[in-house]
Amino acid sequence: MILRDVTERVAAEQALLRSKEELKVLASSAHQAREQEQHRIARELHDELGQALTALRMMVVWVRERIDDNDADLIGKLERMSELLRETIASMRRISSELRPLILDDLGLVPAIETLVERFSDRTGIACELMVNDTGQPLADAYKTAVFRIVQESLTNIAKHAQATQAEVIIAEVDGEIVITVSDNGVGFAVGDSRPQSSRGLLGMRERAYLLGGRLDILSELGKGTMLEIRLPLASEAVAS
Ligand SMILES: Nc1ncnc2c1ncn2[C@@H]1O[C@H](COP(=O)(O)OP(=O)(O)OP(=O)(O)O)[C@@H](O)[C@H]1O
Ligand SMILES: [Mg+2]
Repeated sequence: MILRDVTERVAAEQALLRSKEELKVLASSAHQAREQEQHRIARELHDELGQALTALRMMVVWVRERIDDNDADLIGKLERMSELLRETIASMRRISSELRPLILDDLGLVPAIETLVERFSDRTGIACELMVNDTGQPLADAYKTAVFRIVQESLTNIAKHAQATQAEVIIAEVDGEIVITVSDNGVGFAVGDSRPQSSRGLLGMRERAYLLGGRLDILSELGKGTMLEIRLPLASEAVAS
């Protein structure tokens, strides 16, 4: 009798484990489909809309050069058109790069991260050191995007919350895992505290790591800065085909 109970429990546990695995695969493929769709929209926005808007702006400049300098009304209108077009192009770029960091496709992972870090330092005045041990192994898209987004969100958090003067990003491949470490010398925070529901950043990073079979660890202490460590195991599908 006891034996049967145990057998049943083991079977139930195995079934639970299996359905957990299935859920993970499902979540992962839904996530991947979303990334691909965002990628397509970002490209379309950038290539189609971007080109058209730039052409329009050039035409406005062309017209401006050919009209009578005395027609103040017309000149004013054209200048406003040109300004509006410039703003529209800028916001289109911003939307497109939020959907998908096109710089990843254009430059590759390491230069894209370098650009990210440079822009972060320029914008915030926080010195940021970047160290990458690049094995030169081409990574699959899902991994490149994950590494880029994780570094991006970590730096955004430092800019928003840390009040740091120094930050450091290390990306290394250690024992078949990509290890990303982002640290700062800022104010730190109490990791266990419940966060407002609106806080999506750390959750999103954890989700990205989890979907690739990895994990996120946070080490932070009030007044002593913060260190995030993300480990992504390089499964066979991690290498770009
Ligand atoms: N580097 C850091 N230094 C100090 N506090 C941090 C740091 N990173 C995160 N935090 C704290 O952890 C909280 C949760 O971060 P999280 O990225 O999840 O949310 P958020 O940045 O507030 O909002 P969102 O990322 O959704 O725009 C932050 O509100 C902040 O209090
Ligand atoms: Mg955040």
